Parts: sequence; C-alpha cells; structure tokens
Amino acid sequence: MEGKTLYSAAQPSGNLTIGNYAGAIRNWVSLQDGYDCFLAIADMHAITVRQEPALLRRRTLELVSLYLACGIDPEKCTLYVQSQVPQHAELTWVLNSVAYVGEMERMTQFKDKSRKHADNINMGLMDYPVLMAADILLYQTDLVPVGADQKQHLEIARDLAVRFNNRYGETFRVPEPYIMKEGAKICSLQEPDKKMSKSDENLNASVFLSDDRDTVIRKFKRAVTDSGNEIRASEEKKGVTNLLTIYAAFKNCTVAEAEREFEGKGYGDFKLAVGETVADALAPVQEEQRRLLADREYVSSFLKAGQERAFKAARRTLSKVYRKVGFYQGD
Ligand code: TYM
Repeated sequence: MEGKTLYSAAQPSGNLTIGNYAGAIRNWVSLQDGYDCFLAIADMHAITVRQEPALLRRRTLELVSLYLACGIDPEKCTLYVQSQVPQHAELTWVLNSVAYVGEMERMTQFKDKSRKHADNINMGLMDYPVLMAADILLYQTDLVPVGADQKQHLEIARDLAVRFNNRYGETFRVPEPYIMKEGAKICSLQEPDKKMSKSDENLNASVFLSDDRDTVIRKFKRAVTDSGNEIRASEEKKGVTNLLTIYAAFKNCTVAEAEREFEGKGYGDFKLAVGETVADALAPVQEEQRRLLADREYVSSFLKAGQERAFKAARRTLSKVYRKVGFYQGD
C-alpha cells in the first residue's frame, strides 16, 4: 500500500515561539514515523509582510536548523525551502483561477494582517491562503498538522481541491487538518485571550525558542494570572489555563494531569515550575541548533537533497494539473 503523506511549514518571519512548537513542530516530530513527510520553510509566505532580505535569508537557515534540533529526522522527512521549488508559484496561479476574491477577503488572518499593516495591504497578503493550498495540494497530502489559527486556511485548501476536482476531474487528494485538542492555541503571557505571536511588540508576551534560561523564567514569573488562587483550567481563567497548557505540552502530559500536579500550590510556585520546565526542554534544542548552525555545509546538503525530492513530487502533480486545464505541453 502506498504510504500517507504529511505536509506542513512555518514562516521564517521571526523567531519561533513556544506556540509554534506546541501547536505544530512537536506534532511533526511525533508523526514523522508514520508518514512520508514534506516540511517546508515558507519564505514566499513571509514576504507578504515586509522583511529585511539579509535577515530573511539568515532566518531560513536558522529555521531549518531548528526543525532538525527539535527532532525532525532528515532521512525520513523532505526538508526544503518553498522558493526553491517553482511549482508552488505555478500552481498558485492556476488555483487563483478557481479561488474567489470574496472568500479570500473573509479570511480572519487577512483581516488581522490588513489592520496591522494598513500601509501594505498587498495582493500577496490576500493570496496567502491560495499559496498555502498550492503547497499542500502539490504533494497529494493526506494530513496537515497545524495550530488552530490555520484551520480556516486548511478549509480553503480543501474547498479549492474539491472545486478543482469537480471542474476538471479527479486531480488532488483532499487533505485533512490535524489540530490537537490541547496546545493548538498557546496564548500571549501578557494578554491571554490573544494568540502568542512571533511578532508581538511586547517582548514579555511571547517566549521564543531561542530565549535563554533566565529570560524564560523571568517571562513566566511576569505572566498574567487571574484572580483567585486555584490552579484549574477554565473559560474564566485564561491565564492559568494557558500556563497549564504550556506545561502539559512541554511535559508531554494532559492538562488534567498538570492540574492534579499543582493542586494546592500557589501561583508563584506554579509559574516558576512552568518556566523551569520550558527552560529545561529548550536547553538541549538550543545547543543542538547552535551546533548545526556552525556546520552550514551539513545543513545545506539536506536542503539540496530536500529540494530535489520536493521538486520531483511537485512536478508530477503540476504536469497533471497543466494537462487537466488544457495547457499546451508540446506534441
Ligand atoms: P506560522 O509560521 O505562523 O506558524 C507555524 C505553525 O505554528 C502554529 N502556531 C501556533 N500554534 C499554537 N499556538 C500558537 N500561538 C501558534 N502560533 C503559530 C501555526 O498554526 C503553524 O502551524 N501559513 C503557515 C505556514 C504555512 C503552512 C503551509 C502550514 C505555509 N504553507 C502549508 C501548513 C501547510 C504559517 O503562517 O505558519
């Protein structure tokens, strides 16, 4: 039987946070054995907001090293940079002709980013979900592990696959999202009803995978908790719930187990324990990432192999698409 395919990606648009880890990367690592995996660095998505070119290039290598340091096995997974596989842009153009402007305008992320970057509401920003659909559909993907914020984009990818298949005949596999019940939305430590984000201006709001031990512990000590003193997850206690979720993600336990562990403890001890747990988990990842970054040849050799594998798979799907839509392909 043919193996199943997993696809996911992250943007090299800033330092990754523990949200990216808990919502996405940790699931890539735990699922990699059962799937044929394609994991990309989404640099074409990143330029939909302004990036400093030299920094974008550096972050691309940092992100690849981070994937590897988190436990992604390059022998099992195809790791590559999106802009190095031209079929992503090519399929996006074809899918643009089946995607509707209205459905793109309705996307929450488009609306949020338009508000945040009001001086730069570019076409790429609106087309972002179509490029993401092209990423996924090019590899005939079965499963896409992402955080909850990407759910709407996954629905668009499924809709575009079905719409194209109906119009032109069976071409794309329709992908399923994989969104964990716990950890799919890690919130800001300062405003726990907001998602933790790479680009938050308040540096105490996000914990970066690159933060050193003291910084991690300091940020958790300053984390906003709620009134009362019970360490229990609930709708009314967003701050405490968020800390429990983070703890559970880094301890590999459930939120209910974390609640039991902290029963009867005070907020001070709780916040310190969460900070120490996260710092302990990050230390070996950071050390491995430093080691990898010092060996640039080793990292770029994986990217080259990844590009070749991704290119071949993508070419197969794209030529099918070109045939289906009636593009001349030579006699
Ligand atoms: P990006 O770079 O914003 O985030 C990478 C992954 O991390 C998840 N994530 C979170 N999970 C939990 N809590 C948070 N606070 C949090 N913040 C981010 C995201 O859901 C994502 O899974 N568009 C994508 C990248 C992409 C992609 C794709 C993903 C491009 N092409 C194809 C899947 C399939 C993005 O911006 O991710």
